[in-house]
Amino acid sequence: MSLFQDKKIILGVCGGVAAYKSVELLRLLIKAGAQVQVVMTPSAEQFVAPMTFQALSGNPVRSDLFDKAAEAGMGHIELARWADLILIAPVTANTIAKISRGIADNLLTTVCLASAAPLILAPAMNQQMWRSEANQDNIQRFKSRTSIHLIGPAMGEQACGDNGPGRMEEPEPIMRFCEQLLQQLQEQQSLSEQLKGKKLLITAGPTIEDIDPVRYISNRSSGKMGYAIAQAAYEAGAEVSLISGPVVLDAPEGVDCYKIRSALQMHKRVFEQLDNVDIFIATAAVADYRPVATKAQKIKKTQDSMTIELVKNPDILADVSAHNKKLFTVGFAAETTELEKYAQDKLDSKNLDMIAANRVGRDSNGQSMGFNSDTNELILFSKQQSGEITRTVLPKTTKQQLARELIKEIVVQYKNSHKNKD
Ligand code: CTP
Repeated sequence: MSLFQDKKIILGVCGGVAAYKSVELLRLLIKAGAQVQVVMTPSAEQFVAPMTFQALSGNPVRSDLFDKAAEAGMGHIELARWADLILIAPVTANTIAKISRGIADNLLTTVCLASAAPLILAPAMNQQMWRSEANQDNIQRFKSRTSIHLIGPAMGEQACGDNGPGRMEEPEPIMRFCEQLLQQLQEQQSLSEQLKGKKLLITAGPTIEDIDPVRYISNRSSGKMGYAIAQAAYEAGAEVSLISGPVVLDAPEGVDCYKIRSALQMHKRVFEQLDNVDIFIATAAVADYRPVATKAQKIKKTQDSMTIELVKNPDILADVSAHNKKLFTVGFAAETTELEKYAQDKLDSKNLDMIAANRVGRDSNGQSMGFNSDTNELILFSKQQSGEITRTVLPKTTKQQLARELIKEIVVQYKNSHKNKD
């Protein structure tokens, strides 16, 4: 069945030459099974007659916020609540500016502000308008808003004769983009509630082991995987605490985040938060060793060679699994060689329920793998009640998507395990 089947979509149309492409977009949406309500800005009506959209969608076209007859049917708040998805194609620089600042001075911008549905914007404008500082500033604001998704603009010749970025994407790529988003939403919905009532504790990022006030030992972990897992677990309904080493990421919405610096601090924090935890996931790249002593003053360059004596840090994951044998524990094994063997050795030696193996280092194109990259792939080994170890591959994708797949797998294994208290 098409992902569009019976989806309630508001197609917003702004005033621009590209508005003629919205007609084809509407035809494709209807053909794919969507229910579409078209909302036009007043200036869009200068480019395409509302009647065209009305005939194709089978619904009256809305453009006036103060239209008494239309409001008596489906008021603007009802319309905003009705939508599963809002797609504005084309969206002008003017409407982008309004949405980015929360201005609601016509029906379309009001519906955007009043709706919790994801919003897809397909911009179309002159290349200089697109590049302008004011517009780029508005676009930049969307980066921190997870419900807003941008497709395009494409490069090329423009109606005004200019050449550059500003052409609205074609209807077919827009349809594929919508489909991907609907797929993601469906996955999020299938995950929701799965971990309701469960408490998860997650470690993430690197640890920093100070040598003196200006130098330290650390590693390349960005924390992206751990943060994505925390977000996916929260989406699945869990109560999530994240213990994180120093990273540049913002804590996911709804997740309690505790920042620490060293392995010893992470160890202490984890044990402080361990009460009533159901699942512990260790994604942190904990420094295995720390200097025996941190010098109070900067070390001076007085010798030709120097030795820093290091001492082993506690193994947080191994300590947690030994401390509470009823806890479902998940580890990560970041390896440059013999990935599967080392991962299975760690599953066994740390007495875990599951381990996610990922290759780190650089691939044949010199691209960073695992650490500090936006994509990853994982091989999961899970210990079954029978003692058998099962192997599952989660293919390469974005860390966000991979995190959802991992949480799905954790849900399955946790529910099958004797550690599930339900
Ligand atoms: N881990 C931990 N505390 C440590 C070291 C590791 O909690 N002091 C956790 C990591 O978060 C990860 C798993 O143990 O989930 C494996 O970490 P990794 O660094 O791959 O393995 P190590 O046990 O440190 O072994 P080695 O460095 O020899 O590969």
